Amino acid sequence: MFSNTQDVISALATQQYIASDEIATVLFLAEKLGKPVLSEGPAGVGKTELGKAWAKATGRRLIRLQCYEGLDESKALYEWEYAKQMLYTQLLRDKLQDLLKNADSLRDAADKLAAEEDVFFSDRFLLPRPLLQAILSPEPALLLIDEIDRSDTEFEAFLLEVLSDFQVSVPELGTLTAKHQPMVILTSNNTRELSEALKRRCLYLSINYPSHEEELNIVRIRVPELGQKVAQQAVEVVQSLRTMDLKKHPSVAETLDWAKALVMLNADNLDERTLENTLTVLLKHESDVQRAKRELGGGGFQRRGPGGQGGNRPNNYPPNLGMGGRRGRA
Ligand SMILES: Nc1ncnc2c1ncn2[C@@H]1O[C@H](COP(=O)(O)OP(=O)(O)OP(=O)(O)O)[C@@H](O)[C@H]1O
Ligand SMILES: [Mg+2]
Repeated sequence: MFSNTQDVISALATQQYIASDEIATVLFLAEKLGKPVLSEGPAGVGKTELGKAWAKATGRRLIRLQCYEGLDESKALYEWEYAKQMLYTQLLRDKLQDLLKNADSLRDAADKLAAEEDVFFSDRFLLPRPLLQAILSPEPALLLIDEIDRSDTEFEAFLLEVLSDFQVSVPELGTLTAKHQPMVILTSNNTRELSEALKRRCLYLSINYPSHEEELNIVRIRVPELGQKVAQQAVEVVQSLRTMDLKKHPSVAETLDWAKALVMLNADNLDERTLENTLTVLLKHESDVQRAKRELGGGGFQRRGPGGQGGNRPNNYPPNLGMGGRRGRA
């Protein structure tokens, strides 16, 4: 379906997803090797969106399993629909009485009932959860296992089994095997270390904040209403904020929120007032807002803080927004 990584980039772009070469290479290889992808990275960098966009780009049905602490097999794999089983037994009471009326002992009655139990433990009463839905899906599916790091290690171990052979055994029904092996994308925010066994089964993809050029493309494709000049200025501010020592750096999600806010405000230039009034769309801690205001100083932004991504800066970086002249610097 895809003959090179450029095809992958183009297919994702049709879904308004801007993919780096690294993302495209990992997806391309995952398709060719039939392996799951484990994408890890900070919040809001497009890990979940990648799964959704790839499902659409490849015409697969998206099946999503959101992980959380305490997630177990009954919520991830399947459950019996007890309420429906109870309702059926109520409605079929007369029939059941007919069946049992000639039984001459309790044991005999239980045997007669047991002979009918596959009526109640059949597909009709089986409630498939995302993992089983992906296995049973009649059409090709993409299984998005979102935020796997939030689940418990026991669940991770169970998942390994499912991912290794794509079959599940339901004691009452036997072994159910996938018709089409689903494409699997797992995401993790890195809140805990995942097992080596899980990592070994997956192709690893580290998604980090985009480069200046990529982020500008994301803004252009997602918020095309925003003027070119403001878009450029906005991305420069965001990239600069990520070089500062803040509690929480703005993610792509926040860049897009900000871009939309600037459209709402009809901003055609990112002047000092607009920037000051809208910084809280990007930064959610008061101390970060204060620090950003100090550091986005006159004569340009100061370059400081750990994890600086200076390599991505354009030639006209840093921009001079004329801030800080009044206040001076930190
Ligand atoms: N490369 C990209 N191209 C287009 N849109 C992007 C890209 N990266 C992120 N986005 C947009 O940024 C927003 C956040 O993305 P997403 O929800 O996928 O982040 P995430 O990494 O899953 O975050 P979290 O860890 O908080 O769940 C979405 O609106 C998504 O459309
Ligand atoms: Mg997500």
